[in-house]
Amino acid sequence: MKLYTQLAPWWPLLSPPEDFAEEAGIYTRTIKKVAKGPVRTLLELGCGGGNNACYLAAEFELTLVDRAPEMLAVSRRLNPECEHCEGDMRTLRLNRTFDAVFIHDAIIYMTTEEDLRAVLETAALHCRAGGALVVMPDHTTETFAPTSGHGGNDEPDGRGARYLQWSWDPDATDTTYETAFSVMLRHADGHIETHTDHHTCGLFPRATWLRLCREAGFKAQIIPFEHSELEEGVCEMIGGKRER
Ligand SMILES: C[S@@+](CC[C@H](N)C(=O)[O-])C[C@H]1O[C@@H](n2cnc3c(N)ncnc32)[C@H](O)[C@@H]1O
Repeated sequence: MKLYTQLAPWWPLLSPPEDFAEEAGIYTRTIKKVAKGPVRTLLELGCGGGNNACYLAAEFELTLVDRAPEMLAVSRRLNPECEHCEGDMRTLRLNRTFDAVFIHDAIIYMTTEEDLRAVLETAALHCRAGGALVVMPDHTTETFAPTSGHGGNDEPDGRGARYLQWSWDPDATDTTYETAFSVMLRHADGHIETHTDHHTCGLFPRATWLRLCREAGFKAQIIPFEHSELEEGVCEMIGGKRER
């Protein structure tokens, strides 16, 4: 995925941390609510550029994992006080537990039940009994709707980035949908570079999420995501308490 490798240095312009303040507050409150007992340590799987982490770090001691070294480099600049580890969320084994595990939109790259099961197993192995798991997929099967959107920002040095993101589901009977990106990058000298990127993303019904969480050892529920910029019901979280 070009977006997380070749284009990663542009991530803060494509997805600025300032946009994450409200949602990171929702995750902070949800993590504390789901967990039994205090939450001090938090593992984030698929941290990307660390845009949620920079807010979560005010409340928790964070360990941030991503499989793309280029994205970890972006997050390290934003979150120098956090521990960073390169790894795949399906196979990561740090051999220690945390009070909570958080997975944001990186979970969409799990496109099969087998992948999702592997990630939930990783989460369970890294979560203490009574600890919390909070997952925020972009969509569940029930909330999915074809969308397009755009964004991007400018830097005072003349650099700027804009993107168009377009998602659709060509086969409603399988566990994937497609997202295409068109990205324009303006360098400080004014020249423009354009890129396209195409991702296949995972889409699972609530019942699958809840079953796989239960099988991994979490007592899980679907939690509404109430954000001032989103219509009610367009996104939802999966929250689970580690049972054993
Ligand atoms: C949309 S970005 C995350 C952005 C992040 N939420 C932020 O705010 O900066 C998705 C991330 O998932 C990571 N990723 C995808 N598959 C992964 C896997 N199997 N294990 C770990 N990280 C993965 C990618 O490298 C990418 O950095």
